Amino acid sequence: MKRSLIILLLVAIGILPSLGQDLPTDFLSVEFHKERRDLVREKMPTNAVAVFFANPVRNRANDVDYIYHQDPNFYYLTGYKEPHAVLMIFKEDQEGPDGTYNEIIFIQPRNAMAELWTGRRLGVGGVKDKLKFNQVFNNTEFEAYNIDFSKFDKVLFYDFFNDVRNTATNGDLYDLIASFKKKSGYPTEGALDIESKANNLDTETLDQIMRDLRGIKTEEELDLLRKAVDISCIAQAEVMKAMKPGLSEREVQGIHEFIFKKYQSEYEGYPSIVGEGHNGCILHYIENYKPQISSDKMILMDLGAEYHGYTADVTRTIPVDGKFSKEEKAIYDLVYKAQEAAIQACKPGVNISRDLNNAIAKRIINEGLVELGIIDSVNQRHLYYPHGLGHHIGLDVHDKGNYEYLEPNMAITIEPGIYIPEGANCDEKWWGIAVRIEDDVLITEDGFELLSDLAPRTSEEIEELMKQPSPLDAFVLPDLDKKE
Ligand code: GLY
Ligand code: MN
Ligand code: MN
Repeated sequence: MKRSLIILLLVAIGILPSLGQDLPTDFLSVEFHKERRDLVREKMPTNAVAVFFANPVRNRANDVDYIYHQDPNFYYLTGYKEPHAVLMIFKEDQEGPDGTYNEIIFIQPRNAMAELWTGRRLGVGGVKDKLKFNQVFNNTEFEAYNIDFSKFDKVLFYDFFNDVRNTATNGDLYDLIASFKKKSGYPTEGALDIESKANNLDTETLDQIMRDLRGIKTEEELDLLRKAVDISCIAQAEVMKAMKPGLSEREVQGIHEFIFKKYQSEYEGYPSIVGEGHNGCILHYIENYKPQISSDKMILMDLGAEYHGYTADVTRTIPVDGKFSKEEKAIYDLVYKAQEAAIQACKPGVNISRDLNNAIAKRIINEGLVELGIIDSVNQRHLYYPHGLGHHIGLDVHDKGNYEYLEPNMAITIEPGIYIPEGANCDEKWWGIAVRIEDDVLITEDGFELLSDLAPRTSEEIEELMKQPSPLDAFVLPDLDKKE
């Protein structure tokens, strides 16, 4: 019998998808997700229901979709990684035919043919068994599910962007949202207006709840985040050894990402930024197209491994030939000085923008730019440092979290930079110099812990490491142009 026919038969009788999967064992635990749902419930107002939808599937072109990425809130609360699902959390116990319940999830059904093409699905049984939900239904049942949203004082949800495709499949995300809108009395035209805000539909409270929860990391989350950061830093250090003129920006990106994969990181937490020379002035430069990087330039590398959902965000800027020029070193050391002072000031109670950026990092950078003759006064408006100092990291690279003041177990970046584009209003010896140094910091009870300490930061440490050989020096591939 042909192998393909056997597979088809196995699939048809439902065996293949349930064959044992050799999966990593260090995902967030079932208990973690349950505890998070309990905490959402605790923070909800009385007589409220919170409704969360899975992320949409996005089409890349024709038959090809983008790799699916679950909505981070949905993943945080469920561990469910598949699309076309809706979760409801109730503040108070609800009465049902099988007794009381306080949460319910509708998920995509098992489907042997779909699973043959796109992979295993948990199905109702899997969600009960593996994710330990009691009330689990197929998404096709949501439309007929009897729920009276008008009986709640508050129906909490994130407002819709109205950008979800209606597929041919019954019970898909489009149908789930349409059913919810119908059941809840959501206005038929566009987003919520003032009038409907007077009813029980609330699109603001849920984000505050999620921000407060996700901004403070648990030990379990920190294990994954530390791993993502370590992997990203090891990649930076290996690239420092492998760096040489003539590599392409894309190749440098590939070395980082190969190392991410070597450590089982599934994805990049954001598109990798690898910019030589003035390309580094484009803050989110993701083209990475320069075919040959030059010996007289620096290269800015901002990449983050995503490990089981948690992403690092680490930037290093290094001289392509292993030695900073006088001007490069002056700018690099200035950014380092600003960054180091801001990191040392990290502790509970401080505000990233006011206390760390304005009072420390920006001040040091402006004073340094005056000293170097790049600007005339510390108060001169300029665009050489055009972004903020940092942000929370976690399931999103720009993660949810409170920005009023730092608290223990918040994980943030500290990432000052100086970017001097070609043609800038200063001596041209500075043109094309772009430096960002970005590190990941955990706020502790009385200060901070530098998470990204496996990647050298000072100009001296970088030059020292770049002298070391790399196993990639011996990795030479055939020249495509010389192929016979
Ligand atoms: N990599 C994006 C950022 O640094 O915010
Ligand atoms: Mn960042
Ligand atoms: Mn970054």
